[in-house]
Amino acid sequence: MVCKYHVLMCTGSKLVGDKKGTCHTRQGVELVKKLVEEIEERDLGSEIIVSATSCYGVCDKGPIMVVYPDGVWYGGLTPERVAKIAEDHLENGQAVKEFQI
Ligand code: FES
Repeated sequence: MVCKYHVLMCTGSKLVGDKKGTCHTRQGVELVKKLVEEIEERDLGSEIIVSATSCYGVCDKGPIMVVYPDGVWYGGLTPERVAKIAEDHLENGQAVKEFQI
């Protein structure tokens, strides 16, 4: 399988302490669903893997998305930002600078 991008999205679960971290309370799970919808609408499902992850330790900048192999970190995600990243970065290969952390 050839994977163009692996996208990691924090859903805010934590291994210790409060199990529902910042990205969870800021709709992290819903944002993963939004990204999957955007990928499916663009017929990119065979090229992109999406993984829901636990905390990255930068909760104040959440919700967080990391796009590999580019190593680009996005923060402050909203449904609108996720759609913009899907179009510009995942579909057209142009990272969205204004959302990077
Ligand atoms: S809960 Fe997402 S970075 Fe900490």
